[in-house]
Amino acid sequence: MKKKLFITRKFPTHIVEPLKEYYDIEQWEEEEIVIPREKLLAAVADCEVLWVTLADQVDEELLLHAPNLKLVTNLAVGFNNIDIKALRKRGIMATNTPGVLTNTTADFVMGLLLATARRIPESERYLREGKWKSWYPMQLVGKDVSGATIGIIGMGRIGQAVARRAKGFDMKILYNNRRRRHEAEEMYGFEYVSLEDLLQQSDYVVIMTPYNNDTVGLIGAEELALMKDDAVLINASRGGIIDENALYETLKSGKLWAVGLDVFEHEPIALDHPLLTLPNVLALPHIGSASLQTRTAMLMLNVKALTAFGQGKAPSNRID
Ligand code: GLV
Repeated sequence: MKKKLFITRKFPTHIVEPLKEYYDIEQWEEEEIVIPREKLLAAVADCEVLWVTLADQVDEELLLHAPNLKLVTNLAVGFNNIDIKALRKRGIMATNTPGVLTNTTADFVMGLLLATARRIPESERYLREGKWKSWYPMQLVGKDVSGATIGIIGMGRIGQAVARRAKGFDMKILYNNRRRRHEAEEMYGFEYVSLEDLLQQSDYVVIMTPYNNDTVGLIGAEELALMKDDAVLINASRGGIIDENALYETLKSGKLWAVGLDVFEHEPIALDHPLLTLPNVLALPHIGSASLQTRTAMLMLNVKALTAFGQGKAPSNRID
C-alpha cells in the first residue's frame, strides 16, 4: 500500500512525478493559488505525508484533522509556519530546506541594500513617469554603501553569507547573534556587538534572524529610535520581527533613509497598508530565494526527504 501524500500547491510535474513510486499523491491544483483553510483541513484527514509552503500554517488545529500524519515537508528553510512542539508531541517529523538557498538569498539582500541606498526603484519610476528632463548634480542622490558600517542581526548561514559579500564592499561588519561566531570573527574580522550598539552604529541594519518567540517584535519603536537618522533597514527574514506600526511612525517622522522589506507580518501585504504610501519603502513579495536554480534545489531537497521516507528510511534535513 502506498502512503498518501498531499501537496498544498501546484508544484512542477517533473518534480512531483517520481514520487508516485512511493505515494498516492493529491495536489491542490485549482486556479486559486492558496488552498482555502477548510479544504486543507479536509484534505489532510487521511494523509500520512504533507508537503507545504511557508504560507501554510501547520498548527494544533490542522493536526487534529490529520490523525495519520507522520511527516511534514516544508518548502522553506524558515519553519515558523509549523508548530514543531505540537508535531513532536505526536511523533510527527518535519523537514526543511537549509543550505541550498544561502547564496541566492544573500545575493538578494545585497540587491535590496543597494536598491534602497541608491534609490534604484524610485529612480526607475522617475524615468517612466517622464520626470527625467536633464541631469543635475543632486538628482536622485543616494547613500554610499562602500566603506559604510553594516550591522547584521542573526549570524547564521545567510547572515554570514551577507557579511562575506559586504566585505567585498569594504564595509565594517558588526553582528549580533544568540551565539558568538568566533571562527567567523577571526577569519573575516566580523565584530560582535550588543543589539543596542549595532543599532546605534550601523548605517545598514540587516535582519537575518529566524522568527520565533525570542525575535517577534524584536525591532520596535525603542530599537528604531536607537538607529541613525539616515540608516537603512533591510528585512529578508520574517515580517513579525519588525513592529510595522512602529516602523511606519518612525519613517513618517522623517527618520531612516529607506527600508527594504521582502517580508511582512501578513503576506501578501494589503495594498492599503500605510507602509506602501511611503516612497522610501521598497516592498517586495517574499522573493529572497526566488532564483530558478535555488527554488528547484529547494524542491529537490524536499523530494529527497520524501523519497527516503517513502523507502522507509529516515528523511534528510529533519528539523529537531
Ligand atoms: C524563505 O523565506 C525560507 O524560509 O525559505
